Amino acid sequence: MSKPQVVVYGASGYTGKLIAEYLAKRGISFIAAGRSESRLKAELGKVPFVDRVEVQYAALEHTVEALTELFLGVKVVINVVGPFAQLGREVVQACLSAGAHYLDTTGEQDWVIDCKAEYGQTFADKKLVLAPATSWMWNAGLLAAEVALETSGIDSLDIVYAPNGNPSPASTKSFLRMCCQPQLKLELNKFQPWPQATAYEATVPGFHQHLLALPWSGGCEPVWYADDERVQNCSVLTAFTNRPMMELVVAKMKEFADLAPTLSAKEQEELTNAWGESICSTEPPREIEEINRVVISCWARGNTTVKHVVFFNTCGYLQTGVMAAELADRLLRNQHKRVGFTSAVHAVGHRELIAACAEEGMHCWEPA
Ligand SMILES: NC(=O)c1ccc[n+]([C@@H]2O[C@H](COP(=O)([O-])OP(=O)(O)OC[C@H]3O[C@@H](n4cnc5c(N)ncnc54)[C@H](OP(=O)(O)O)[C@@H]3O)[C@@H](O)[C@H]2O)c1
Repeated sequence: MSKPQVVVYGASGYTGKLIAEYLAKRGISFIAAGRSESRLKAELGKVPFVDRVEVQYAALEHTVEALTELFLGVKVVINVVGPFAQLGREVVQACLSAGAHYLDTTGEQDWVIDCKAEYGQTFADKKLVLAPATSWMWNAGLLAAEVALETSGIDSLDIVYAPNGNPSPASTKSFLRMCCQPQLKLELNKFQPWPQATAYEATVPGFHQHLLALPWSGGCEPVWYADDERVQNCSVLTAFTNRPMMELVVAKMKEFADLAPTLSAKEQEELTNAWGESICSTEPPREIEEINRVVISCWARGNTTVKHVVFFNTCGYLQTGVMAAELADRLLRNQHKRVGFTSAVHAVGHRELIAACAEEGMHCWEPA
């Protein structure tokens, strides 16, 4: 039995199963890896299309050694075990040791900045892709930004995400930790922090009421554009349409700001993890197009140029599955456009990634 070329690490989780589904739909065999073989088998047994491909199962310790052994001979690793700032380093290091491309689904800005600084050059030297945040957050806003940047003269991007949905358990831990860390935007090519624990009333196309918005880590678009000569300014806000949930996060951010000075970094992570566990311990239902509608708005400016790109789309988690499968598919066929640290959008191409999501009915072919 030959070894599949793709590993989904954390395949038993909410997003891991969606990635498994979209890989299988494309006919891509994979190794479903995690910490419990029985849980992996039980969870993957529920996933559409998986019976059409060969799936091997691997339960292993979360150590560089065990992960390296699993990744040897594999071309693409998709890491879905978060929070990534807490659990990602072992997986990235194992990819480097085994010579595999690394993708993950993080939404944590600080993790993406660390990935670039710590591992970007080594991945580039080995001609491997290092694509953290191969996920809806933060590639959907980047898709709108790249469409705006097709117009010459644009150098500044003001992006808003407006999702309607419920997070998974690991997502809840991840967003609580990232909202409590420094949250950065790009101003005149330099990272600048958003004010701590501060929410904004946002105007979002498609809504008559203002939505409550937060930097939600700052997003990764400022990181993707940090060394891009086209862009000087880039900010990202996120406004979940569920206002009580946003108000709860603001309250937690204020509580954290009061407590943080008395806590070590480790204790801070434990605190946000404990909050996450108390808020969400069960999987949300599968997204439905009629409910989980999302808006991405990007105001793009140059001196005398303006472009407003708006996408009215659906299902951020399902899109994460498609984005990861699309990049994995292209990596298997050596059709990627970049190596080293990169966004999925820049590795696949923005029009190509829009097309992949549009083919699944989750994206419009053209902005509004
Ligand atoms: N940015 C975005 O748009 C986006 C979209 C989707 C997901 N994400 C991120 O992706 C991550 C996963 O999300 P999810 O929806 O799949 O969450 P989930 O349903 O809670 O699944 C978490 C997965 O991680 C595994 N896991 C947890 N702790 C582990 C540990 N200490 N060692 C090894 N495995 C461990 C779990 O294994 P068990 O089954 O054994 O518990 C499970 O497979 C989160 O950080 C989330 O924020 C981001």
